[in-house]
Amino acid sequence: MNDVVLTGDRPTGPLHLGHYFGSLANRVELQGRLPLYVLVADYQVITDRDVPGEIRRHTTGLVLDQLATGIDPARATIFQHSAIPELNQLLLPFLSLVSVAELGRNPTVKDEIAHSSQRAVSGLMFTYPVHQAADILFCKGTLVPVGKDQLPHLEVARLVARRFNERYGPVFPLPEAMMGAQPLLKGLDGGKMSKSRGNAIALSATEDETAALIRKARTDSERLITFDEERRPEVANLLTLGGLCLGRTPRELAEEIGDGGAATLKRVVTEAVNEFLRPIRKRRAELSEADARRVLAEGNERARERAARTLEEVRSAMGF
Ligand code: TRP
Repeated sequence: MNDVVLTGDRPTGPLHLGHYFGSLANRVELQGRLPLYVLVADYQVITDRDVPGEIRRHTTGLVLDQLATGIDPARATIFQHSAIPELNQLLLPFLSLVSVAELGRNPTVKDEIAHSSQRAVSGLMFTYPVHQAADILFCKGTLVPVGKDQLPHLEVARLVARRFNERYGPVFPLPEAMMGAQPLLKGLDGGKMSKSRGNAIALSATEDETAALIRKARTDSERLITFDEERRPEVANLLTLGGLCLGRTPRELAEEIGDGGAATLKRVVTEAVNEFLRPIRKRRAELSEADARRVLAEGNERARERAARTLEEVRSAMGF
């Protein structure tokens, strides 16, 4: 079986350590072994907000973040929705393969609607998982590294692929999710780590910004540092973060800190994070916006050729 890996992010802000340990490290590891497509999902930005905002700046930033972590543009194809008309055109036949009831049952979409600040729910909110199926299927992606929240979308992609094949003949492989083995990192306030909640350490943050964020992190007043996810989730989360950066288990780190209290814990984690991110930040500082634009232009061209071939196959299978 010829596996193809596809993954993507919405360009809504800088990538952070949650992305790194959840998915970026995995991408870098995979790019040497399998064809890898990395999507800047720019059209998906307007699912939960009215306007794309600073889309160009976030797009460039996203590409630079990926390059800084070690994604090699000679091996990986980095591209964006808005530059690939042939990918977007797959949405039309794909929408004919799912029912309105199925679209309404998607738990991730329901959750996004519940948390949305928009006054009205747009049609795109219900249909973007089908667009995401086009993201995956245009390059016949088979492995999709994603977090748990994306599993319902992967089910949609499998449904679309299966139904297309049943109706029109075998064109698409059924993609599979690849879940990171890493523990889930929470934000520094104990909630979901998120670009928009101010509780995440961006890969591109400065050392001082990193120190300030960790200083503000929630902890408790027990002097003896222990790894207890049930009773001390905030302390456990800092130990997890520090452990990931140091390549040690959270328990080992807790023992080392012993009765140093929250102050020592924060100092150790700050040093660990800054040390870990130093080479990534250094590489990012050496890159320019022009580098990002050149990488995208090349990736877009490659992705467009791939999408054109798939669209041709789809049209011909459907008898157009
Ligand atoms: N929905 C993903 C997110 O919010 C981004 C995304 C778009 C994606 N298209 C994709 C992820 C295709 C994996 C595969 O992070």
